[in-house]
Amino acid sequence: KLAKTISVNGKTFETSESHTNVTPSIIALTSRSLHLNESHPVGILRSMIEKKLNSIDGAYKTYNEFEPVVTVEENFDSLGFPVDHPGRSKSDTYYINSKHLLRTHTSAHEMECFGNIKNKITDKPGFLISADVYRRDEIDRTHYPAFHQMEGARLWVRDKNLTSEGVGKHILQIREDVANLEQQLQAEKTRLIVQDDASLEGNPKQDYMTDLEVELCTRHLKRSIELVVAQVFNKKLESLGDVKQELKVRWIKAYFPWTAPSWEIEVWWKGEWLELCGCGLVREQVYLNAGYEPGTTIGWAFGLGLDRIAMLLFEVLDIRLFWTTDPRFKNQFKPGEVTSFKSYSKYPGTVRDIAFWLPDDEPRLPAIHENDLMEIVRNTAGDLVESVKLIDTFVHPKTGRKSLCYRVNYQSMDRNVTNEEINTFQEKVRTDLAALYGVELR
Ligand code: PHE
Repeated sequence: KLAKTISVNGKTFETSESHTNVTPSIIALTSRSLHLNESHPVGILRSMIEKKLNSIDGAYKTYNEFEPVVTVEENFDSLGFPVDHPGRSKSDTYYINSKHLLRTHTSAHEMECFGNIKNKITDKPGFLISADVYRRDEIDRTHYPAFHQMEGARLWVRDKNLTSEGVGKHILQIREDVANLEQQLQAEKTRLIVQDDASLEGNPKQDYMTDLEVELCTRHLKRSIELVVAQVFNKKLESLGDVKQELKVRWIKAYFPWTAPSWEIEVWWKGEWLELCGCGLVREQVYLNAGYEPGTTIGWAFGLGLDRIAMLLFEVLDIRLFWTTDPRFKNQFKPGEVTSFKSYSKYPGTVRDIAFWLPDDEPRLPAIHENDLMEIVRNTAGDLVESVKLIDTFVHPKTGRKSLCYRVNYQSMDRNVTNEEINTFQEKVRTDLAALYGVELR
């Protein structure tokens, strides 16, 4: 049943029985490039952030057209992901074959971009990479198998010759860079109230960096991200007519295999903490993988999710809208402008349940993962499904067999869906579930 080859954006790849799990509906998304569309919320936000970060010293080269297919090495190995990391599994990641996958994050391009600095292909000490990324995941209003990230990174080449102060020249440079950022942050209309305990307990620094280097790089990283947050949210607060323009943010410790120490920043928005971005000081191994000599560079990287922020900024409540081609959506946005989306008539949804017994022991067939069910529903109904939720689990007291019940909400963003269509979808989902995973339908 599996085709011998598949092509993604005009490039052809061999498939593999053991790995290929990417489907035509997912491949279709790879040519959309919403982040390049200057009149799309994701593209408007991308542009805004690029301009802001480059307004200070123009230090960032932008890469916005990397192909979505990358190697396992680029996406995981070069970043030090352990071999048994769950992110590598077929239930989380779309594989093209055993060597290629759809990137799960823009960090997949870090090694190449650091290499470009090392090889003097660019003379800028930083970069911003924006791209579509892909993850197998649940289906609801805030999750979609494709979304967008912006990767940012900045590095400084170490100077071993000491100044009269007893430090390398790079230290003076970072100090100056930090001072520029702090000045810019002061000038922003939105004031951030920052919670940051700054302790490195349980979030250790790398041995190859001095305490002073860690302190300065960290300040540069955090102030850069705070600047982005202040600008992005300023647009929103202004459009809401907020006069105080204060925003609470907090830095919390995090873990990523390729940064140490690592953090996440969260913003207090509408009564809850919203995660915006993961970041940290780049592990030396990544620089070595990119061709640098030991001990020669220090710096940071961040990865920012664009879709969630764009949803909040433009007041788009369902992430599927980003992918619609309906002119009533597309025509509402203009380059460089943050406007609130006015929802057009919402079509009613229809709920259907699917219940089944899990097979006791069916060695011929793969065990079913929740994301496999999501994929079947998505392949059948595409964007006509709003959400799929587990609503009941039941273990039979005598036999010990387990039964699951999922509720599917069929609802379109741009038209009415008929009962006949839904019956056909529902029947297909049930047949596929039984055939592929041997479950017993109820
Ligand atoms: N790639 C990470 C993610 O997708 C974010 C990140 C980027 C973290 C760069 C640290 C450094 O969650």
